[in-house]
Amino acid sequence: MLLHLTILAGDGIGPEVTEQAVLVLQAVADGFGHQLQLQHKNVGGAALTASNDPLPPDTLAACCASSAVLLGAVGGPGFDHYPQHLRPEAGLLRLRRELGAYANLRPAICFPALEDCSPLRPELVRGTDVMIVRELLGGLYFGQPRSIAGSSGHRLATNTMTYDEASIERIARVAFDLAAKRRQKVLSVDKANVLECSRLWREVVTGCAKDYPGVQLSHMYVDSAAMSLVQHPREYDVVLTENMFGDILSDQAGAVVGSLGLLASASIGGKVGLYEPVHGSAPDIAGKGIANPLGAILSVAMLLRYSFQLERQAVCIEKAVCALLSQGARTPDLTRNGASAISTSQMGQRLIEAVKRSADAAHRKSG
Ligand code: NAD
Ligand code: IPM
Ligand code: MN
Repeated sequence: MLLHLTILAGDGIGPEVTEQAVLVLQAVADGFGHQLQLQHKNVGGAALTASNDPLPPDTLAACCASSAVLLGAVGGPGFDHYPQHLRPEAGLLRLRRELGAYANLRPAICFPALEDCSPLRPELVRGTDVMIVRELLGGLYFGQPRSIAGSSGHRLATNTMTYDEASIERIARVAFDLAAKRRQKVLSVDKANVLECSRLWREVVTGCAKDYPGVQLSHMYVDSAAMSLVQHPREYDVVLTENMFGDILSDQAGAVVGSLGLLASASIGGKVGLYEPVHGSAPDIAGKGIANPLGAILSVAMLLRYSFQLERQAVCIEKAVCALLSQGARTPDLTRNGASAISTSQMGQRLIEAVKRSADAAHRKSG
């Protein structure tokens, strides 16, 4: 198969983790006989610096013309003073919208070897396997009007949260379909005791549930869900929620399973899928070569699964990550009490070796 991808490394640790993710992807492609066609383009701060636009037309055109997009991260303190529409983050939001990527899947899994990396007690976090399904094109992120208006001392800031029934229904169906193949549970998270958007959300999600009699639906307010996610993370299967709540809960889920650097994501629903780690550009560690590349690498696994239906290849990466962690491979975010750590590129290299071994073994078995 020909895998035609656009690679958007972005800012901060984005290029560091993306480099390793692409090397792993290359190893998988080589190992399983696929061909890669990669185009590297600017996005975010890197694109602002080069052409004063966080999502230049040629970047967007390349993304739209490819089969999937892999993105590192965008943003950083150097760009925080830019007007809203020119910020690196605005480029990412526009890309998500242009691609029609309304469904953001953010799995948070506690790898057995990492039970003691969580700030929670091992017996609480053991076995955690949550799939956060975040609505990605609605809510406060995109609602109009939005502005800061008025004169200094009297300014008024406005953001608008809107959700229509169709946008709620389509994301709810994604969550129910996923749950049907997992542990048959959907928890819908909202703030229906205060917000009209959430009241409509709850009503529409409840209506959808009738089409999935095997799946058990429950509801929780977001404040209570945030508490419960750290009290008993294992209870969660699929968590369905709107854009902003999903943003917040997914970082929290990252901490619960040991590090935000581990979390991958898929933004799907449109013609071209967008794959990116959940974390940001991490300016505090950028340039040091110590970022955890596993979130980016596991995003490659999601890319193979959701954009190309290459399940065996996706599992090959996921198993290699699991095995490597069991062997004690740790970037600094995964170490405790000064234990020794490896670099971003060492983690990538060891993963490539594991992927090659497992592709060879698969060949021996089939041949
Ligand atoms: P962040 O996710 O960049 O970092 C939060 C903390 O987690 C930091 O201490 C960082 O060092 C650590 N961390 C993150 N990824 C890591 C990794 N792979 N390995 C080890 N440690 C890791 O969040 P922030 O500091 O709030 O945001 C920094 C910038 O990134 C901001 O400009 C923000 O807008 C942007 N951002 C971009 C994306 C994206 O591009 N998808 C996502 C989130 C934040
Ligand atoms: C994320 C990020 C983005 C979001 C920002 C950078 C726009 O935090 O992907 O989680 O809020 O969606
Ligand atoms: Mn976020």
